[in-house]
Amino acid sequence: MNTRASRNPLYQDLDLGKLPRHVAIIMDGNGRWAQSRGLERLYGHRRGKASVKAIVELSRKIGIEYLSLYAFSSENWQRPAQEVKGLMNLLKRYLTTELDRMMKNGVRLQVIGNTRRLPSDVRQALRHSVESTKRNKDLTVILALSYSAREEIANAVRAVARRVRRGDLEPDDITEEVIAESLGTAGVPDPDLLIRTSGEVRLSNFLLWQVAYTEIYITETLWPDFREHEFIEALRQFQARERRFGRLPDQPEESVERPSDRAPLRVAR
Ligand code: IPE
Ligand code: IPE
Ligand code: MG
Repeated sequence: MNTRASRNPLYQDLDLGKLPRHVAIIMDGNGRWAQSRGLERLYGHRRGKASVKAIVELSRKIGIEYLSLYAFSSENWQRPAQEVKGLMNLLKRYLTTELDRMMKNGVRLQVIGNTRRLPSDVRQALRHSVESTKRNKDLTVILALSYSAREEIANAVRAVARRVRRGDLEPDDITEEVIAESLGTAGVPDPDLLIRTSGEVRLSNFLLWQVAYTEIYITETLWPDFREHEFIEALRQFQARERRFGRLPDQPEESVERPSDRAPLRVAR
């Protein structure tokens, strides 16, 4: 937490010592934002890019550790070729224009998803940004690109199956941790807060494994209009929630065995 941030009136209702470590966002509503103004959908995506910059910047300033952004789903490949091409161009431009700022601000970029499907110039820009920023320590931004949670889980199952076939792992030793460490998000704590903009009440195949106990916040605001105040409001509401993880409200945490301490479930056959 930095003192400059704690003095900013924008954050006055916020306990900067109790922020979510990891915020995940389904950035939705760009198309509707543009269409409601009689503009092409791509204008909405462009404005959405400005929201990305604002939210990354604020997250870094207040000390959030991980920010996962759903930017393009595997299902989004089904959109008209022109929109996909426009999105890929925007992404490439974002990566090249933001790299300096990421370096200056200590932002580390990571990517999850099937990046092999992305155009080669985008892949190259991604590789460059991920490699250049890998030692940055302030905020990790995880871009979900060509991402599908079910695909990610299927890949993890394949990787675990190969370890079993090689004899490196016993089936009974396949724990939740083994699975979590085989996902694209290996090493990243589960999201504490998931935000979806534009009012849709669904997960759209985002981080299905990781959001098991995530607090969900849905706002009607469209992504291009989602800026600092909206984000602070989501964080404020998060701080007012009681996370019980299946326990009773007044049960002290120390008295509880953590899920990660549990022995793997063994199925009787
Ligand atoms: C989210 O906005 C961005 C992407 C999915 C790439 P949409 O493009 O889905 O906007 P709406 O939902 O059609 O308004
Ligand atoms: C989810 O938004 C994917 C991203 C935000 C990248 P969509 O607009 O694709 O989701 P659906 O189709 O409404 O579920
Ligand atoms: Mg949408």
